[in-house]
This record gives sequence, C-alpha cells and structure tokens, in this order.
Amino acid sequence: MTITKQELMQQAREVLQHSYSPYSKFPVGCALLMNDGRVFTGVNVENASFGLTNCAERTAIFTAATAGYKPKSIQAIAISGDTDTFLSPCGACRQVLVEFCTAETPVYLTRRDGEIYETTVGKLVPLAFEQLDM
Ligand code: THU
Repeated sequence: MTITKQELMQQAREVLQHSYSPYSKFPVGCALLMNDGRVFTGVNVENASFGLTNCAERTAIFTAATAGYKPKSIQAIAISGDTDTFLSPCGACRQVLVEFCTAETPVYLTRRDGEIYETTVGKLVPLAFEQLDM
C-alpha cells in the first residue's frame, strides 16, 4: 500500500466535517485508496425526504466512478464516524463495494477511540451476488 491504514483512516476522519447529516446527526466519512494510489473521500448526504439519503461509502465510490474508475479498482477502504463501536457499512453499501473491490480488499473500521478493526469485503459480504452471476 502506498499509504498506511492509519493515513487512509485519517482522511476518512477529516472529511467527516463535511457530512450533511442534520436529520440523523450521525456523520460518516469514507476514504477509498484506488489501485493507482489516488484517494477519494465521501460523506453521508441526507435529505428532508429521508429515503433519499446517500451513505458516505456510496458517495465516495460514485465519485471515483465519475472520475473514470472501473469495477475492481479499489485497493482499500476506511470508514469513520463518532461511535462507541466499530462503524460498519450498511447492506446497500456492501453490495456496491462488491462491484468495485475484490473479496480480499481490506476494509478498515474505526470507533471514537481511534482503534482500527480490519476486515475484508469478502468477510462483510459472503456469497456475494456479482456481475458474473447475471
Ligand atoms: N450511513 C452511512 O453513511 N454509511 C453507513 O454505512 C451506515 C449509515 C449514514 C446514513 C445516514 O445519513 C446516517 O448514517 C444514519 O443512518
């Protein structure tokens, strides 16, 4: 990896300040390390029509896709919030991660005290539904 997991997590933490979460008051930040070393960040963006909320992870992935990145182009993911327990991605975001990662792609989760828990996309989404299944 071109940067450490701590450095990637730091970027996920810094972007938290841009979270637009006036309804839940639950800010989430995400940083993606791409295969070429570039980093994309994202935050959750809420709406008065609650169901339109976009999670931080999907914001980051869609930003990378908009910049031209293709499936399986993510090297590592860091997700941050201000929680007592390790903040883990929701089911919708896990499915989107599957598209742009491999089963081995590391996912770093954190909690308020800064501890990092390392897992993988394959562990978060066993037996994933993929492009290949269509
Ligand atoms: N949220 C994320 O941004 N990522 C997740 O994986 C979990 C949930 C956001 C959505 C909403 O703005 C707030 O957290 C509370 O659900």
